[in-house]
Amino acid sequence: MKLPAATVKDLHVTFGGTVRAVDGVTFTVEDGEIFGVIGESGSGKSTLGRCLVCLINPSDGEVRHRDVDPFALSRRQLNRHRRRCQMVSQDPNAALDPRMTILQSLCEPLNIAGIGSREKRREKAYEMLDRVSLAAEFANRYPHELSGGQKQRVNIARALMLDPELIVCDEVVAALDVSIQADMLNLFSRLKDELKLTYVFISHDLRVVSHISDRVAVMYFGTIVELGPAREVMDRPLHPYTEALGSAEPKLAADAAERRGRIILQGEIPNSAKPPTGCRFHTRCPRAEARCSGEVPATRELMPGRYVACHFAEEMLARHSDTTTIRPGDNGARAATAQPVELRHDGRA
Ligand SMILES: Nc1ncnc2c1ncn2[C@@H]1O[C@H](COP(=O)(O)OP(=O)(O)OP(=O)(O)O)[C@@H](O)[C@H]1O
Ligand code: SF4
Ligand SMILES: [Mg+2]
Repeated sequence: MKLPAATVKDLHVTFGGTVRAVDGVTFTVEDGEIFGVIGESGSGKSTLGRCLVCLINPSDGEVRHRDVDPFALSRRQLNRHRRRCQMVSQDPNAALDPRMTILQSLCEPLNIAGIGSREKRREKAYEMLDRVSLAAEFANRYPHELSGGQKQRVNIARALMLDPELIVCDEVVAALDVSIQADMLNLFSRLKDELKLTYVFISHDLRVVSHISDRVAVMYFGTIVELGPAREVMDRPLHPYTEALGSAEPKLAADAAERRGRIILQGEIPNSAKPPTGCRFHTRCPRAEARCSGEVPATRELMPGRYVACHFAEEMLARHSDTTTIRPGDNGARAATAQPVELRHDGRA
């Protein structure tokens, strides 16, 4: 078996000495999987993603790509290594220069890296356009002539030009019309299978993450509060924050939430420079008890591959077991090849 595409150990990223954007997260991203990261705005998802593709340095802890510690490489080696990991972000315009044709934008990463002849670069650009289902005539157009969805396809093609292994997709469908989100997610799934890619798929949208991901990590305030097989985490959350995220999306989680009684998440995320004591979620948690404000809950593996950081996770598990049968190892993991996604306009999956 291949080494994990990425291994993250007790990773910290601090800004300005006080903002602990990522505050001690540990997980692996297995070869060929789609690892979802979900959480509210400001929970540290993008910071984690940028660190994973070496765009920012960790303040502490470790990131490994297979057996390589990218942050121990020389500058030159790191530049080379960066080709292996790419990021696609929310803004379809971010990576496209309005003065360049699509062909020029696609060839640019190869020009910078000094890879291949002019002819080979162009050939590769046309191949990638085809991969993302854009006709060859798009090559000579300018970004302003394309729709948001078409531009996002170009961004994906551009990220693929250097033959990466790991792609961090940061809110890649958030700016797109709901009617084309499913197409885009299906494109990501197809490319993953065709090109043997591994994704870290970041989104605040439960619908998107639960559909596309094999496993999912739920982030709150720079930490991972729950991690496990995507369907299992979504259908039977063991952390009150995950549960609240689910019920904040009533259309999505209608059935599951109705069984549990809906919970509305109260209040704002606290000041990022001043995390609450004890469990960071205690200022908003509907299940908080006295010990929660004083005692940091340890992360425990409640079932194989299912990690939760809440003092009462065992009780939550017992409650689920009363209504549904959960067998150890019955982790709801998806088949290796993702099924096409259908998203309806009303948000119902
Ligand atoms: N370059 C930076 N300098 C200072 N603080 C930053 C920087 N980047 C992010 N932060 C802070 O780090 C925290 C995490 O931000 P991050 O962008 O990673 O969150 P996110 O989960 O991606 O949010 P969103 O869903 O809004 O994209 C926030 O408090 C943010 O203000
Ligand atoms: S430890 Fe307490 S405050 Fe934190 S999630 Fe669990 S019940 Fe809520
Ligand atoms: Mg972000």
